[in-house]
Amino acid sequence: MDVKIEKPALPKAGTLAVFARGERLTRAAREADDATGGALTRAVQASSFAGKKSEMIDLLVPQGLDVDRLVLVGLGDDGDPGDLKTRDFAELGGKLVARLSTGGTRALTIALDDDETGGVPAHEAAAELAFGAQLRAWRFDKYRTKEPAEKKPTLKSVVVTTDAQGAAAVRFADLSAVADGVAFTRELTSEPANVLTPAGFAERMERLAALGCSVAVYGENELEEMGFRALLAVGQGSVNESKLVVVKWAGKSGAGAEMKEPLALIGKGVTFDSGGISIKPAENMDQMKWDMGGAGIVAGTLYALAKRRAKVDVVGVIGLVENMPSGAAYRPGDVLETLSGQTVEVINTDAEGRLVLADCLWHAKETMNPAAMIDFATLTGAAIVGLGHHHAALLTDEEALATGLFEAGQVTGDRVWRLPLDKDYDKQIDSQIADMKNTGGRSAGTITAAQFLKRYVGETPWAHVDVAGMVWSDKDGDLWEKGATGFGVRLMDRFVAETYEV
Ligand code: BES
Ligand code: MN
Ligand code: ZN
Repeated sequence: MDVKIEKPALPKAGTLAVFARGERLTRAAREADDATGGALTRAVQASSFAGKKSEMIDLLVPQGLDVDRLVLVGLGDDGDPGDLKTRDFAELGGKLVARLSTGGTRALTIALDDDETGGVPAHEAAAELAFGAQLRAWRFDKYRTKEPAEKKPTLKSVVVTTDAQGAAAVRFADLSAVADGVAFTRELTSEPANVLTPAGFAERMERLAALGCSVAVYGENELEEMGFRALLAVGQGSVNESKLVVVKWAGKSGAGAEMKEPLALIGKGVTFDSGGISIKPAENMDQMKWDMGGAGIVAGTLYALAKRRAKVDVVGVIGLVENMPSGAAYRPGDVLETLSGQTVEVINTDAEGRLVLADCLWHAKETMNPAAMIDFATLTGAAIVGLGHHHAALLTDEEALATGLFEAGQVTGDRVWRLPLDKDYDKQIDSQIADMKNTGGRSAGTITAAQFLKRYVGETPWAHVDVAGMVWSDKDGDLWEKGATGFGVRLMDRFVAETYEV
């Protein structure tokens, strides 16, 4: 879909969206009301429309206007000028696209009134409307050969109009790059595991190279030499070769130059998690194609940062394996020597993500001198039990990372909620015969998994984000069609922007 920002002008076709603060029409809405001889006012009176945030009513073929449809959109009451947030405008843009996408309309014009944006600067509000529209329009239909025409989107273009067109377009150029990063994450997350094998995932990282990142892919022979024995153990039951991808965006040092203290993002990339020998029940096992969602967040974040040419050094370390049962698979009871030298007794082959991450975290810490490490993983079902689908679990000892990630989440809507790390949980992962077990029993599953990871990060500032409940949604959202959400990219773009002022 084509999304643009333009100077105010009445559209000649398609749908026009205008706003109301409570029941009070804003200027563009009053103009439309005048042009239609008061049809909008009568529509408000004839309906229960109260102008609440994102409430909408439609008028078809409004007389006196060239458009086919007029939509009045509530912005909430204007009693409190700070009531509207950046996020609200993105969500409104998304909601409008969701409402109009298959309704027959081909073009949507959103007429923003620059002095009716609450506490948000007009150019930002306009850019966020466009951003939300772009995010909501993305869909994964490449495998549908027989989709009925009435289910296919008709909407092809969205124009947001504002007097602050110049500044809004500049802001939207960045946000549009972020939306492209979100789309990349969603694509990776949506692809089935027969297509997106570890090698298939690694191949798609070429798109990051095209944006100016350096991309290195390591196969099983190299990983054996490097000592990634825990990662390799998880993948050894699969016919699909395990891979490690290291992606660098040297936006600060410049391409080719040595990065001094990069931010390291580590991703769990289990392209399919059957559970292995500790096999999962059949019900919903198909969903485990998105067990590479953490890796997808790392890839999409690098995509966004590279595309908007952010002056920051970031390295992505992505561990890619398929967890399968077979005669060659690792077993419950096996003892693994991780890259760090620490040993792990495998109690359950379905607790595989932490084994992959253990080697990736250690590798990042030892070879990249990171200023901080943040890992993303669909690590535990317990994160869904605890927080549902509205917050990712955040575990860290670093107050700066905790605050930075929390605030970035509140602003973007990719929200995180902190759980504790504490040595009292360590007893649960003590092993009789090795340094630790890979499971900690039924209680506090998200925390014991993080306590496990903590043993592989040394003194490096580190945060763990368990995104098990966030990367996939069974319901449509304001900014996504049901399926892959692209969670995490907006969070990390904002976190990087605030932390490094880029
Ligand atoms: N990938 C799963 C976690 C998961 C489950 C993510 C459901 C999204 C939805 C992970 O590898 C796993 O199987 N974790 C186990 C750990 C347990 C065996 C200690 C879990 O959470 O049950
Ligand atoms: Mn598992
Ligand atoms: Zn898993």
